[in-house]
Amino acid sequence: MNNFEFKNPTKIIFGEGQIAKLAENIPHGSKVLMAYGGGSIKKNGIYDQVIEATKSFEITEFGGIEPNPHFETLMKAVEIIREKDIDFILAVGGGSVIDGCKFLSAAVHYEGDEWELVEQMKARKQEKVVPFGTVLTLPATGSEMNSGAVVTKAATQQKRTFGGPQYFPQFSILDPAVVASLPKRQIANGIVDAFTHTMEQYLTYDHGAYLQDRIAESILHTLIEIAPKVMENPADKHLAGEFMWSATMALNGILRLGVPTDWATHMIAHELTALHGIDHARTLAIIAPNLYRKLKEDKIEKLVQYGRRIWGITEGSKEEIADKAIEKTVSFFHSLEIDTKLSEYAQNYEHTADEVFNRFKERNWMGLGERQKVGPQLAKEIVEMSY
Ligand code: NZQ
Ligand code: ZN
Repeated sequence: MNNFEFKNPTKIIFGEGQIAKLAENIPHGSKVLMAYGGGSIKKNGIYDQVIEATKSFEITEFGGIEPNPHFETLMKAVEIIREKDIDFILAVGGGSVIDGCKFLSAAVHYEGDEWELVEQMKARKQEKVVPFGTVLTLPATGSEMNSGAVVTKAATQQKRTFGGPQYFPQFSILDPAVVASLPKRQIANGIVDAFTHTMEQYLTYDHGAYLQDRIAESILHTLIEIAPKVMENPADKHLAGEFMWSATMALNGILRLGVPTDWATHMIAHELTALHGIDHARTLAIIAPNLYRKLKEDKIEKLVQYGRRIWGITEGSKEEIADKAIEKTVSFFHSLEIDTKLSEYAQNYEHTADEVFNRFKERNWMGLGERQKVGPQLAKEIVEMSY
């Protein structure tokens, strides 16, 4: 294993009925901005629970944060926080609302064009940030226990990542009961996103980190085991809890400790959302299998380990096991009713590979992936394979 340092300060409050603990976790006397999405929380009772639990605070509401949160929308919340001198943010939602609140946290005290925080990575250097907590409503991204975020500038169709240790939530409430109201489409998305987060930190090259590999494999096994059952019965709180904790564990910093990581699937896939508005997890399902195919030689040892340990493939040469393992992954996505070709989601997609090439080039992204090999040309070829 490589050397590492690890600190994750987010307090996790897991379990049914735990939203009631909000008041004891928000600093006493805070002026709170409660941020949420398009309104699902008003239909499933989460909004009422949050309002009840925070009635001792002065609350300002900000709704309407869209999936793949827009910089433009978030700037309206920044203005409100500045005007009202708000000093605590409560995110009630999935990855989009939580990521949006990480942006708010960074932007409120930033002097300058706030998009620089994202595009020029200035968020990492921002010292004065607004603290925030979360009530998670969708297991998927791990944003509830990590310090990264993804924000989109709608005006230029740029979907970009940022982060820094100051963007860990102070606390996150994980109540499995929220899964019951999720549409199948979002449950499937959450499973595929968590699965791919695990793969990004596992499917690299052999590095002899036995425990790290087995933690990753246990998350993959759990997701595969519960996936059809949670899809069938999202109101089962036991299954929902396993799903929720798997998604959090997949991207809370544990898996990456001491090991190489990839993340090229995510960086290419973000462009498909930026250009075509496809759900995040679905873009991963489009890109990941082709990235594994394209980089099969580099990833062969781990592909074989993945094939043997996760899918129980024992017959055949290394190459055959790797191929079968990729096919099994595709079938798993299909079993969740997730399509794996760009043409199944977008109509005018033929320019996408060139556009991805140009964007990678403009940003000087020459060496993504565990071997720093994925630059504009490889990204373009992977997107072309994904049509
Ligand atoms: O907006 P509302 O009305 O609340 O509806 C949402 C939204 O339409 C709905 N929903 C959420 N909880 C629900 C619910 N509907 C019914 N019942 C509930 N309990 O689900 C829809 C999607 O929500 P969203 O937050 O967009 O989904 P997700 O959690 O998948 O987040 C996706 C965003 O996170 C980013 C993605 O790029 C994307 O922008 N990611 C963030 C990461 C991070 N911070 O670490 C890592 C990920 O790789 C990812 O990139
Ligand atoms: Zn993801």
